[in-house]
Amino acid sequence: MSPFLQISDLSIAVGDTPVVSGLSLTIDAGEVHAIMGPNGSGKSTLVSTLAGHPAYAVTGGSVRFMGKDLLAMEPHERAQSGVFLAFQYPKEIAGVSLRSFLHAAYNAQMAVRTPDAVQRSPIKFQKMLAAKMEELSMNPAFADRALNQGFSGGEKKKAEILQLLLLQPLLALLDETDSGLDIDALKIVAEGVNSMRSPQFSALLVTHYVRILDHIRPDHVHVMVRGSIVESGGSELAVQLEREGYKRYGITEAA
Ligand SMILES: Nc1ncnc2c1ncn2[C@@H]1O[C@H](COP(=O)(O)OP(=O)(O)O)[C@@H](O)[C@H]1O
Ligand SMILES: [Mg+2]
Repeated sequence: MSPFLQISDLSIAVGDTPVVSGLSLTIDAGEVHAIMGPNGSGKSTLVSTLAGHPAYAVTGGSVRFMGKDLLAMEPHERAQSGVFLAFQYPKEIAGVSLRSFLHAAYNAQMAVRTPDAVQRSPIKFQKMLAAKMEELSMNPAFADRALNQGFSGGEKKKAEILQLLLLQPLLALLDETDSGLDIDALKIVAEGVNSMRSPQFSALLVTHYVRILDHIRPDHVHVMVRGSIVESGGSELAVQLEREGYKRYGITEAA
């Protein structure tokens, strides 16, 4: 059987500048991997490319997702196949409420996954939305505010996780979902992600800090420096990074 996600020798450029070079990573179904690394090492570039962001050009290598050529798929096809990206910097969108945004995304996903129209009943959706918001300790009033407008950093990240919980993807790419969260919000967000864990769900958790890994135990930890994975290990690697930072890779924290 082919691996769930297989990234082989992937190179990515922004304009003429190479950002990721020869990166390989295999994620099996049910696994949670963490990619850690200093700022500017290419973590967002990697996950944005996997989601199909047009700013990034693949200059070499391949990505197979559930046996398919992921890079040949349009961004919406990737989403429909179960790939989800939680943005490091979620966009503010005027004139679209969080509720209507989530409802549209949910319907689009359900239209692909189940022909059963009952699944898409608006009442069912509203109930589910309310329940998931409560799970994330979000004020229900947020549902009717413009998407991310005037949301605090932590509220934006919670809105991303709310989307994750509603869409139930197969592969979640979480780009620094932990940054900007206070301890309580971090716990709630981590519990949300943990509630997704199953043999059918995999996640690639991008993080600069070890903190979130106290709550979401990854199966594998990778360190990315200057566009390449320089070390991989188990969760003990995260503990070591917490103690020593990135200086063993020739990086000072100011970098
Ligand atoms: N859209 C973009 N336009 C220009 N440069 C970019 C863009 N995205 C990333 N880069 C550059 O690529 C490098 C890696 O950035 P990024 O992937 O955001 O790193 P990380 O997420 O690890 O902090 C940086 O030098 C950054 O300036
Ligand atoms: Mg980043």
